[in-house]
Amino acid sequence: GPRPPINGAGLTFKPIPPNTLDTVIVPNGYDNAVILRWGDPVVPGAPAFRADRQSAAAQATQFGYNNDWLVTLPLDRHGRRALLVVNHEYTNENLMFPGYTTPEALTVEQVRVAMAAHGLSVVEIERVGDTGQWVPVTRGARRWNRRITAGTPMRFTGPAAGSALLRTAADPSGTMVLGSLNNCAGGLTPWGTILSGEENFNQYFVGGDAVPAGAKPALTRYGIDTVNRYPSGSRKWERADARFDLSAHPNEANRFGWIMELDPHDPNFTPRKHTALGRFKHEGAEIILARDGRVVAYMGDDERFDYLYKFVSDKKLRRGDKPFDRAHNMTLLESGTLYVASFGFSSAPEIDGSGTLPADGAFNGTGRWIPLARGRQSLVPGMSVDEVLVHTRLAADAVGATKMDRPEDVAPNLRTGKVYAALTNNTRRGATGQPAADEVNPRSNNRHGHILEITEDGGDNAATTFTWAIPIVCGDPADPSTYFAGYDKTKVSPISCPDNLDFDAHGNLWISTDGNALGSNDGLFAVPLDGPERGHVKQFLTVPVGAEQASASLSDDNRTAFVSVQHPGEIDGASMDNPASTWPDGDYARPAVISVWRVDGRQIGA
Ligand code: FEO
Ligand code: CA
Ligand code: CA
Ligand code: CA
Repeated sequence: GPRPPINGAGLTFKPIPPNTLDTVIVPNGYDNAVILRWGDPVVPGAPAFRADRQSAAAQATQFGYNNDWLVTLPLDRHGRRALLVVNHEYTNENLMFPGYTTPEALTVEQVRVAMAAHGLSVVEIERVGDTGQWVPVTRGARRWNRRITAGTPMRFTGPAAGSALLRTAADPSGTMVLGSLNNCAGGLTPWGTILSGEENFNQYFVGGDAVPAGAKPALTRYGIDTVNRYPSGSRKWERADARFDLSAHPNEANRFGWIMELDPHDPNFTPRKHTALGRFKHEGAEIILARDGRVVAYMGDDERFDYLYKFVSDKKLRRGDKPFDRAHNMTLLESGTLYVASFGFSSAPEIDGSGTLPADGAFNGTGRWIPLARGRQSLVPGMSVDEVLVHTRLAADAVGATKMDRPEDVAPNLRTGKVYAALTNNTRRGATGQPAADEVNPRSNNRHGHILEITEDGGDNAATTFTWAIPIVCGDPADPSTYFAGYDKTKVSPISCPDNLDFDAHGNLWISTDGNALGSNDGLFAVPLDGPERGHVKQFLTVPVGAEQASASLSDDNRTAFVSVQHPGEIDGASMDNPASTWPDGDYARPAVISVWRVDGRQIGA
């Protein structure tokens, strides 16, 4: 069973102040260094990066752009070597190419570079001495090192594989697709594979104006422009690959927006997109076991007024590590029940959007998981199972799920079984014609977001009912609409726009932010979840100018924080020639993954 939490153990570091410095800031007694930056060689034989001599062939062997979620998988029992797996969410062409002017002026080869800079990297890394610092392995076979790109063949699994909605001219079977796009967050499975969420896939498609009329409502619900041939802000990929033009290939967009599974230990593995987990702007998927050994995946759809989901497998995990156990476990995400969350409010009439606590002293209530599909059976009247899984947003609309403030990472705490969701912000909450504040999204014009805690009934993650509470309403603690679980507000760090979530070895929550609306740089925060220190948010790290603190992963020995610094220098008007950030090398900005460690070698945070 879950181990009890240690109340606030291990978070004695002195918090750093908010700042706007163009570097990574860590507490006194800590250090950090780049492990891999955009363009660094990944596949053995990859050329050294040269900004003025880029090619798609080179990029497909080098570290991709805009590293987001990351995780490490140990390769030995001594904690000396590991595989680092990293998502590459999207590209900033203005920051990538010297002489950049407009999207239209990109060469077709530059478009292909951008396509190759998407996907994932798998890289063998090693510890430096007995420290918490890690570096890439640069010699030997490095047989696991691999790049996944927008062109890597992948296979669909589950009830909607082969569906008419997934068939295209290039794939009349509807079972194979090239590439994974906009890989944002992810999760580790108990059988040693990783999951990766395909998020804002809509921006890669044009030609939505010319699809059959019956296909338009679903495309529109997913943010695809069905009025203009070339929507502003589209990425021009149709110039390099015609499948991104929906006027000729109307189903291609249905082949993105999935949870993808990759086995980093098998360099020849064909990634799988699991249709049983539904299709939306998947932030990520994080797994915990139900009491009976079935697998439960928690997921968010990152859009204003979209939903929280969970998937419960039909079959149970096999704990052995024989090949047949592993083969069984690799099928667990192919069949199960997909649910969407409906939140009940105990004091909704008292909620006025100001963030003021209701009369019972807490934002809290009950809730239930509404099933949308079970195995091959649709549970939504008027929709086939294929439609429920491919147009999951429409299915969730039909059953009246609760519209949330942009669900980003949804992460179960493996120590307690409680589930935490980062609701990053929603400035349209309470606006004219938009849903009003409610108890689970309690603030109108929610610029700074909040953290939600779900406790499944009976302590079983397969339960269909739950209770919930909001431990943290983010912002400047001087702002009366903020809440830090009742902790002394004069002692907490300001925090805005929570995005990615992780837990340390003690069960403390680590929060990465994206889009700090308080005017300082984004960063990484730690907060105890239980005991008298619950709500004591402390800032651990800040990232450079224009960067997003995209993801952090605490190592199992708690001696390293692996941190993903995404899009440094992403400021309006900036370019590679006129950079807003010169991190990490002093010339122009490059996204990078760093390790953070304590100079005395002891545990992070303690
Ligand atoms: Fe890619 Fe929702 O963050
Ligand atoms: Ca309440
Ligand atoms: Ca994110
Ligand atoms: Ca985000």
